[in-house]
Amino acid sequence: MVTITINGKEVEVPEGSTIIEAFYQNKQDIAHYCWHPGLSIAGVCRLCMVEIEGNPRLQIACNTQVMPGMKVNNQSAKVKDAVKWGLDFHLINHPLDCPICDQAGECGLQDQYMKYGQYDSEMGEGKVKKHKVVDLGPRVVLDSERCILCSRCVRFTDEVSKTNELGIFNRGDRAEVGTFDGKPLNNNYSQNVVDICPVGALTSKDFRFRQRVWFLKDAETICTGCSTGCSVKVYHNKEGLFRVKPVYNPAVNGHWMCDQGRDVYKFVNKDARLLDAKVVSGGKTEHMQATELAKRLGTTLKGAGKSVALVLTGAYTVEEYDAILNYFKSEVQTSNVYHWINNPENFDTFDGLLLRGDRNPNTKGLAEALSKNGFNGTWKELTDGISTGSIKTVVVAGPENIALFPDLKAKVSELARAAKLIWLGAAKSADLEALTGDVALLPTKSYVEKSGTFVNHAGLRQTVKRVTTIVPGALSLTEAVAAMKGEDVLAQPKQQAGVASPTVGAGRVNNEFTLTRGVW
Ligand code: SF4
Ligand code: SF4
Ligand code: FES
Repeated sequence: MVTITINGKEVEVPEGSTIIEAFYQNKQDIAHYCWHPGLSIAGVCRLCMVEIEGNPRLQIACNTQVMPGMKVNNQSAKVKDAVKWGLDFHLINHPLDCPICDQAGECGLQDQYMKYGQYDSEMGEGKVKKHKVVDLGPRVVLDSERCILCSRCVRFTDEVSKTNELGIFNRGDRAEVGTFDGKPLNNNYSQNVVDICPVGALTSKDFRFRQRVWFLKDAETICTGCSTGCSVKVYHNKEGLFRVKPVYNPAVNGHWMCDQGRDVYKFVNKDARLLDAKVVSGGKTEHMQATELAKRLGTTLKGAGKSVALVLTGAYTVEEYDAILNYFKSEVQTSNVYHWINNPENFDTFDGLLLRGDRNPNTKGLAEALSKNGFNGTWKELTDGISTGSIKTVVVAGPENIALFPDLKAKVSELARAAKLIWLGAAKSADLEALTGDVALLPTKSYVEKSGTFVNHAGLRQTVKRVTTIVPGALSLTEAVAAMKGEDVLAQPKQQAGVASPTVGAGRVNNEFTLTRGVW
């Protein structure tokens, strides 16, 4: 360790640290745009200026290593003046379109201007006009005028995704970010450049103009898009979830997440969800509260034994598996339990960065729970049992994100051959809606609506906490089991009949902006 002094305070930092790392490790504020802890050092923005005692010239903190006894500060009048003029240069050609910029509310330029700027511009020249609304690829749009040429996005495609789509073309005040020979920015990590762009130059096609960031709350959870289990933040309000961003986790995803993981939020919002509990029998459909249906099912299932089979997918928490397996073992008294593996041929594939072929968050947790309980039934045993009629009722804890289950249609028709199908799931599915036999559908909570533990591909156990409610009345598997046992479960009440629920896209709700776009 090395002892240095930052703004008058003595601190210890690891040998070889840069000054900017020392500031961060000791929670000291320092301006910076081009430095990013997950990328190489470029030293181009000149905003991280510090004064080092004994050194007549200011230095950049991102590219200067600490030395024992070094005394640095970024609070002197000399530093503040340098940062102010640095900022003035950054803003020379930057358009004043903060009111319509998606980055407004979380923009480094706005923050720095309020802290160090607030000057009258001395520029007499007009701004250099650059390209606006440049379509960089399927997910990212560039507004060249806002770009401050920090090169973070270029370094990301060179160093992290290693796809090299981006470069800086031309020189001086004509320099612009662009793609080589029109090759689009199209890799499975492309939206990370939106996160790391310190200004509003790079925006996400999916998110832009859908919400002002100050109308959103955020909460940490994990991505359930595959068995990696990246740490993420979801941004939401009463209308649902609007975007997902990675959270730094050195043990799992570092600073990044994949683009497919960013789409997971769409399958949690109301438009994609099973909203009602219902029973279809003898050509009649009956709607009811999920708790009421679960209680009824409990009466049918209790002691039914081996005529009942349970099918589980890898989307649920460890706690839910424990509750439902325990219930089927001790109360239903069956050992007919089966694992629905959605894409077995891809399970062990890996793209080399984060995304895994097993697109379930908790396959490992399910495998552990099955083996703990001695359940090892094969899919053939299940289908044989349905064919011979020894299995009469199939209970399915289905996928949360049906887009990740390409075999959904086939599995639904395979399982619906049983005399009775009970489907617990978060997703709305036309294949389920079309069933006319003896069917019960019970809405379950999605991953942001419950707390619990997921075990990732490497066996890492990660616990998440409930973020929000999207479907009032939906139950976790644990709650469904409690209701099946006849316990009183306090689910959120269903929407009153005749009162419109705040569906995404349905209009302005409670002074919050309306989501008008979004492709599932
Ligand atoms: S587009 Fe954003 S990240 Fe890329 S160089 Fe410009 S300011 Fe930096
Ligand atoms: S790698 Fe997997 S867990 Fe991580 S963001 Fe992508 S889908 Fe989600
Ligand atoms: S952060 Fe140091 S020069 Fe940009």
